[in-house]
Amino acid sequence: MSGTTSLALGLIGCGTMGGSHATQLVSLADAHLAVACDLDLSKAEAVAAQAAAAGRAVRVTADLADVLADPGIKAVIVATPNFTHREVVFQALEAGKDVFCEKPMALTVADCDAMIGRSHDLGRKLMVGQVLRLITVFATVRRLVADGVIGRPFAARIVRCARRSLEGPWASTWRSKRANTGGLLHEVNVHEFDFLRSIFGEVESVSAMAANFTRPEYDYEDHVIVTLRFRNGGLGVLESSVATVIGATDGLITGDRGSIAYDWARNTVRYRLVDGTEEDVPVERDQGRSVQGELASFARWVLHGEAPVVTAEDGRRAVQLAEAAYASIGTGRVIQID
Ligand SMILES: NC(=O)c1ccc[n+]([C@@H]2O[C@H](COP(=O)([O-])OP(=O)(O)OC[C@H]3O[C@@H](n4cnc5c(N)ncnc54)[C@H](O)[C@@H]3O)[C@@H](O)[C@H]2O)c1
Repeated sequence: MSGTTSLALGLIGCGTMGGSHATQLVSLADAHLAVACDLDLSKAEAVAAQAAAAGRAVRVTADLADVLADPGIKAVIVATPNFTHREVVFQALEAGKDVFCEKPMALTVADCDAMIGRSHDLGRKLMVGQVLRLITVFATVRRLVADGVIGRPFAARIVRCARRSLEGPWASTWRSKRANTGGLLHEVNVHEFDFLRSIFGEVESVSAMAANFTRPEYDYEDHVIVTLRFRNGGLGVLESSVATVIGATDGLITGDRGSIAYDWARNTVRYRLVDGTEEDVPVERDQGRSVQGELASFARWVLHGEAPVVTAEDGRRAVQLAEAAYASIGTGRVIQID
């Protein structure tokens, strides 16, 4: 909905995730899509056609400079492949735009620091799409922990194992190269790192193991196990894969009063307490609510200065944990986190 209180956005990168942003923007009051940009113009046109079907006019271009030169565009969404984030975000900030950047924020902590530094120097806003913590199942788990239901949380076991798929986003695209993605932990598990941080706080140390068992067309691991020690004394383990035949996206969070079990695929959350209390907690289907929520938060930050639900610092911390895990995989050592 365009109007004085709706933020006019440029979308840079109109693939899978850019398309998802465009879909959710259609029903947002706080922001609307004004320009869609993709090197492959047909992708931008597809986004514009979808918006047109909902009665919204969206201009298309294949030229990033065209978006950045548009004075009507105050902010952009960057949904290009991981290895381009630093460069595209720099250009957008330097053109005076506020930026919502998809995860992973960048391929290295040094790049994240440079991006945050540039946004501060230029007085521009920079948010990172660590959306998992907002997905209804994960938001429910976080609320239960924050409400003290399981007492002091001290352990987490998180599984993010996708069914082995040679189709869709995991077909051999830019995602098949570590130089483009950073690796499985950057491309996927910055989400789980962020979720864990949102429950336990900062991480003290990380160790990890990884291998490629089934994907010779990839130059990085298809299965990885990470263990984490949190500064609050808590312990965590993450198993992540794109090679399992039966997928699993579930987790168990344990505290001194009880445990919470969630299953993302089944959209369920339940807890059992040491006193015997048990509850299946109702969870609304996410259905794009989480992406809407992050975009609405970004818009309210840009328009009204309201603090964002996830920050660039959160994005940087998630990349830091991925980078530390790879350092552990490379050296066989436990890596301390600053
Ligand atoms: N938040 C999430 O849950 C989530 C889910 C999927 C993807 N992502 C992230 O979103 C980003 C994009 O992933 P995707 O699956 O949409 O990839 P994709 O390959 O489907 O789309 C990327 C698009 O960017 C375009 N592009 C590349 N460089 C460009 C440039 N300089 N200017 C304009 N367009 C450019 C490509 O032509 C392509 O259409 C990645 O960083 C990925 O990690 C996040």
